[in-house]
Amino acid sequence: MAIPEHFLAELRSRVGLVDLVARRVKLVKRGREHTGLCPFHNEKSPSFTVNEDKGFYHCFGCQAHGGAIDFVIATEGLSFPEAVERLAAEAGMEAPRSAPRDREAEERRKNLYDVMQIAADWFAGQLIGMAGAGARDYLQGRGLTKASIERFHLGYAPEQRDLMKRTLLSRGIEEGQLIEAGLLIAPEDGGESYDRFRNRLMFPITDTRDRVVAFGGRALGEQRAKYLNSPETPIFHKGDLLYNLANARGPARDEDRLVVVEGYMDVIALDQAGLTCAVAPLGTALTENQMTASWRLVAEPTLCFDGDAAGQRAAHRAALRALPLLQPGHSLRFIALPPAEDPDSLVRAKGMAAFMDLLGAAVPLSEMLWRMQVQGKNLETPEQLAGLRKDLRDLVGEIADSTVRAYYGEHYKTRLQTAFSPRPGSPQRQGKEQGFARWGGGGGGWRRGPLYTPPIPAHRGLGRGKNADSSPRERLLIAALLNHPELIHEIFEEVGELRLSSPELDNIRGAIIETATSGAPLDLEGLRDNLHNGAMADAALRVVAELTGPGIAKLDPFARPEASLEAVIKGWTGVFRWHRLEDLRRDLEVATDDLGRDMTEEKLARRTALQEAVDAATAEAVGIEDT
Ligand code: UTP
Ligand code: MN
Repeated sequence: MAIPEHFLAELRSRVGLVDLVARRVKLVKRGREHTGLCPFHNEKSPSFTVNEDKGFYHCFGCQAHGGAIDFVIATEGLSFPEAVERLAAEAGMEAPRSAPRDREAEERRKNLYDVMQIAADWFAGQLIGMAGAGARDYLQGRGLTKASIERFHLGYAPEQRDLMKRTLLSRGIEEGQLIEAGLLIAPEDGGESYDRFRNRLMFPITDTRDRVVAFGGRALGEQRAKYLNSPETPIFHKGDLLYNLANARGPARDEDRLVVVEGYMDVIALDQAGLTCAVAPLGTALTENQMTASWRLVAEPTLCFDGDAAGQRAAHRAALRALPLLQPGHSLRFIALPPAEDPDSLVRAKGMAAFMDLLGAAVPLSEMLWRMQVQGKNLETPEQLAGLRKDLRDLVGEIADSTVRAYYGEHYKTRLQTAFSPRPGSPQRQGKEQGFARWGGGGGGWRRGPLYTPPIPAHRGLGRGKNADSSPRERLLIAALLNHPELIHEIFEEVGELRLSSPELDNIRGAIIETATSGAPLDLEGLRDNLHNGAMADAALRVVAELTGPGIAKLDPFARPEASLEAVIKGWTGVFRWHRLEDLRRDLEVATDDLGRDMTEEKLARRTALQEAVDAATAEAVGIEDT
């Protein structure tokens, strides 16, 4: 059901944005705004602002922007309706119901949740009770602690044909509800309904709000299916959920790590060993919705499949399925376990450290796809190489996002060139050598290099050469703003983000922002009032006079007063992107040196983030972004 706009408006007006944000970010009041360290990127000085009156937050560093609902979505990993529901509950508002039919369906769903919870408690009781002795032994044999059994609310479905049915009916639950909840099977021929789960170890499956919506039941005897799952019901859609998502969400966000494994027992074993950010699909291949749900929590979930052939096939399927969904910054990583191991057996045999080693060596999606293509192939003749190239192109064609697609194209092009160019003394058999029996186990991990580094173009902006090459570009950016007073309103955020090495130019930049915000005309008068520091202000004013007077003719045409607004926006943005790219490259160099001197997680994370920022900025600067 669509949520009516008036309801959203009311909700936004009732929620205190500053209070909401302040739960996560330490905010300091500055004038009408609150500022703090941005929760969406790594920073040392605050560029994150919250404006209560306008009802939005904005980060001048990473451009994160939105209102209360966006904030909840971004920080809690909730979907839009979930975020609305959460905020509405906190604001004491009843989520709107448009039609009585909806209300009825809602009522029924509510009852189903209750039924499932009652069933889960009953199964748990059976596990503790007399009937559960065998199941308890089984769990003990598999090394599960009592704490894990409780945390995952495991249970036991006894062997009798309809013990659960009789018990729950006696508690006033209707047979129809038990059937709708998938707990009973009603035979087609109209015979008596009976318990779906019998002599099985029961794993309650919860939704994102930690409500029990289904069960997975593991056979303890000689049953046909090792695992039996609840059927689809009004409250359970197996393709939308991940096992343990409600528990894993917090740790995943905190650690920026989400591990997707195949089985329920794997999730529990990892959790027990201390890795609380593991989830599993529900007996199917990883669906698109499940990938999307994972990306709401972390940028690069790691898929960990069993070391057998089925596990590899599942990994391949997931890799292909991800392609149309890729977004800049969002991807997958893969680890393969040794043959015949699953995470549960590995952690028990070799300990958590062994698993963490594998996790550290996870390969990126691009690498995984490459290996899928070259694995076991003869790649020696031009025809064979052409075939590989075509296959890679077809794969890349599956990527819907144009920026990511462009990067993938570039990546494989380079890779084909380097992987198969004959090197002196080495036979041309790279394909075979890389025909990995498995992927990922090998060690080392994956080192990511820059994709490519186009040279920064020179710009004509009255260079004085003091700050090497950046000075003319900085003057050009400021000159365009001065000669086109309306420009600032088009690119306000970029100007906020602009970093200038020249103190005078930066002084002018600040004054331009202040003047524009105050609504005063952007002329010498207005600027003078907003420039910092008397003596420096004079120097800045001289620069303003030069850039808007005699210096005009020496500027790039777009920065002159006679250029159209459209031309100046385009020109300015182009130069700005190169400027930002150069900045980021410099930061990356510093971060790389820094990391080289002192290898810490934090420094590695910073360097990785900067590398990603450089890649994204490169894509923008060379104009292959999505516009
Ligand atoms: P596995 O066969 O790898 O089981 O199936 P497992 O989780 O390692 O269980 P143990 O260790 O033998 O107890 C992985 C997942 O595939 C689904 C279940 O979700 C299971 O957790 N599955 C498996 C089914 O849905 N039905 C089956 O018959 C088998
Ligand atoms: Mn297993």
